[in-house]
Amino acid sequence: MPDNVVLRLSGIEVRYGLTVAVEKLDLAVEEGEFVTLLGPSGCGKTTTLGVVAGFFEPSAGEVVLGGKPLVGLPPFRRNIGVVFQDYALFPHMTVAQNVAFGLKMRKVSTPEIERRVREILSLVRLGEFADRHPQHLSGGQRQRVALARALVIRPRLLLLDEPLSNLDLKLREELRLEIVGLQRQLGIATIFVTHDQTEALVMSDRIAVMKDGRIEQVDTPHGIYEKPVTKFVAEFIGSMTFVRAELVEPADEEGFGTARTAGGRIVPVRLDRAMARGLPVSIAIRPEKARLVRGNFTSNGIVSLPGRVVSVAYLGSRQEVRLDLEGGDRGMVETVADESQTFTRGEEVSLLAERQDCVAVPDSATVDGAASD
Ligand SMILES: Nc1ncnc2c1ncn2[C@@H]1O[C@H](COP(=O)(O)OP(=O)(O)OP(=O)(O)O)[C@@H](O)[C@H]1O
Ligand SMILES: [Mg+2]
Repeated sequence: MPDNVVLRLSGIEVRYGLTVAVEKLDLAVEEGEFVTLLGPSGCGKTTTLGVVAGFFEPSAGEVVLGGKPLVGLPPFRRNIGVVFQDYALFPHMTVAQNVAFGLKMRKVSTPEIERRVREILSLVRLGEFADRHPQHLSGGQRQRVALARALVIRPRLLLLDEPLSNLDLKLREELRLEIVGLQRQLGIATIFVTHDQTEALVMSDRIAVMKDGRIEQVDTPHGIYEKPVTKFVAEFIGSMTFVRAELVEPADEEGFGTARTAGGRIVPVRLDRAMARGLPVSIAIRPEKARLVRGNFTSNGIVSLPGRVVSVAYLGSRQEVRLDLEGGDRGMVETVADESQTFTRGEEVSLLAERQDCVAVPDSATVDGAASD
């Protein structure tokens, strides 16, 4: 582990009665890093942030910030800035008073408070709005006030829980860039929570994909997209063709092996070293990495899966072709929509892909780098 880790969560477990909300969760965030917790509703994202912020204590595990264990410390003594989905601003206070609140609680002197509030409001481009009340601001402006309020205390760590989900798409896209810009400028380690995959891909240094209270994979956006380690991760980010198969040859030195598809074909796949012969897997192929040709095509070294066209969706410059593959799986190919690529319903075709674009993933997390039972 690198030693510029600012936050370390080890073996975190949170229970609500019989519900296990978070289980055996480990995560390290480095100085200046932007880490996103991504996962479906109820997977434990807010609970994990709450443990870091000190809103509730874990039933097991350790939270260490800047080398100091946090368990038992109340939220206001943790030096952590938090922004929630619903702003949570004080309606009877002005923007400046809202932002100053945390500094007052910390007994900072009045001239120092004024200076820091002015500085942070100008940083989030709200200098002119200091004397307004929150109800006279737009949603995006309110969220920038919430951000200023979290940052003004100069926290060691910033926690953002779906801060953009109440905003319309255009504003969300703008604020994404603004938040990342601010985070880079201040160099503050940040944990961001979302269930929006695009948001996670665009904003993060690393993404932790969560399912049922566990982290399935932590990696860069590129790693998560290109090298998912489980079917769940592959499915959650972007579209994917999944072909059921069984491993025949495990990975060689270059990380390639072979698998037998449900249709009985032996195909080359990219896979993790830890995956053993006989393991049931899905071969995951991105629609934009696959090609489509008429008829039954075979060529050495290329994965070729025969099937029949189910539907063609025309999207202007591109088209999405859905297929019934041999063996009963569903396929999807995204191609340019030109005359050489006209396909009709019922036509017999082959889905082609390079072996490096065919990733064998186990159905559950049993491989290195993922959580295990
Ligand atoms: N106060 C509570 N009492 C009982 N169960 C709870 C409580 N808070 C959360 N849970 C349960 O814990 C699990 C994790 O909840 P959590 O709020 O962390 O999910 P989330 O990933 O933030 O979801 P969302 O995307 O919907 O915000 C869920 O199954 C939820 O029902
Ligand atoms: Mg939540």
